[in-house]
Amino acid sequence: MSAAPTSPKAPAISKEQAEAIYSRGLEGIIAGETAVCSIEQGGLWYRGYEIHDLAQNATFEEVAFVLLEGHKPSPAELARFKAEIVAERPLHPMVTSFIESAGGYLASGRAVPMDVLRTAVSILAHTDPDAQSVDNAANLRKAKRLLAKIPTIIGHMQNVIDGRAIIGRELGGDPTLGHAANLMYLMNGEKPNKDYARVIDVSLILYAEHDYNASTFTSRVIAGTLSDMHGAVAGAIAALKGPLHGGANEAAMEMLKEIMHDVGERAIGTKAVDDWMQKAFDTKRKLMGFGHRVYKNGDHRAPILHKMGRAIAEKDTKNPGGHAAVKWFELGEQVQKIMLDKKTIHPNVDFPCGMTYFTMGIPVPQYTPIFVASRITGWCAHIIEQHANNRIIRPLSKYTGEAPRKW
Ligand SMILES: CC(C)(COP(=O)(O)OP(=O)(O)OC[C@H]1O[C@@H](n2cnc3c(N)ncnc32)[C@H](O)[C@@H]1OP(=O)(O)O)[C@@H](O)C(=O)NCCC(=O)NCCS
Repeated sequence: MSAAPTSPKAPAISKEQAEAIYSRGLEGIIAGETAVCSIEQGGLWYRGYEIHDLAQNATFEEVAFVLLEGHKPSPAELARFKAEIVAERPLHPMVTSFIESAGGYLASGRAVPMDVLRTAVSILAHTDPDAQSVDNAANLRKAKRLLAKIPTIIGHMQNVIDGRAIIGRELGGDPTLGHAANLMYLMNGEKPNKDYARVIDVSLILYAEHDYNASTFTSRVIAGTLSDMHGAVAGAIAALKGPLHGGANEAAMEMLKEIMHDVGERAIGTKAVDDWMQKAFDTKRKLMGFGHRVYKNGDHRAPILHKMGRAIAEKDTKNPGGHAAVKWFELGEQVQKIMLDKKTIHPNVDFPCGMTYFTMGIPVPQYTPIFVASRITGWCAHIIEQHANNRIIRPLSKYTGEAPRKW
């Protein structure tokens, strides 16, 4: 082998130092800086605002503004922001016709909403006048368009799955409705009551941002090459889809349905559920909606959503899946208790999200796309931050292969 060329500049850390701090899955490693969000065992803050405070006192539009524009909006700024979002809700016919052409595949389950959403976001780039620019002002314009259009994509997808005419084709829904209520309206043509609209709004607040999680990190790696926002978001959607990340809200509800099917409603609260769980532990099955890389003593977001979801389930208007809605919470609470007693593992936000969205009659394959409708704000804030102060993200690996040998 020829000698390596001499580097003009020594690496920031030596190979020995790098090996000493190596951690599988980057656990515990600081991989970059951010002013968007901080998360610790003790709390979660978006630009310094604590999550309970936001869930109690803010709307999703206000949180989106804080994340994207960097400060709390004045009433005039908020009105301007909301008007911009409403104006950007309609989709270009290229995107709508793609969704319509995917209808048969979606309805038969051969295509899943997360994949169709990922492709639709890629198509959005082709019609965006700022598509190739990575400057701050262009990025902010694109972020608002993505925020506005993703609920329209989700709604149109649900319409083609259900075989109904597309709702809000011209206006992207109903301009008098807020972001969360319009998302619900686009999906089924019903304007949600105040309680339902607020629960969705809070779920969007809780999902909006979470520092260097897998999908956000993906978006920053893509943006770090100076590639564009739509590409970074498409990559982030692919990362979020996995059941170890955002896909867990769908997987958690599927798991509860499986338990309900196997043990029956009348066995809730009995040993039959413990036996089901023991079998899962014996086979080393991962239970979706539990555990977290950072929060080992509980996810701050989970109890907020659980309480709100249970409150609407107690009113039981939809009777989801043939069971009183509150039964799903009773089952979920028993599962949570067993996980905590036997494994000391707490639920994450995806666990109550599954039960809450199910109570509201939202189709399970749309849970993770709805997560996208919220996390788009966090992703875009990070992409803007990455582009504004860029250094390519290019780590090392620990080589475990063959020693050098002759061909
Ligand atoms: C979120 C998650 C990926 C974090 O992973 P991580 O930080 O690498 O944690 P680990 O997988 O190393 O877990 C540590 C231990 O707890 C166990 N554990 C963690 N989450 C578990 C779960 N949901 N069900 C069963 N066991 C779990 C692991 O098997 C491991 O046990 P071991 O030490 O005996 O091997 C993991 O908890 C998980 O897969 N959860 C389910 C998916 C989910 O809900 N994701 C949404 C996250 S917001």
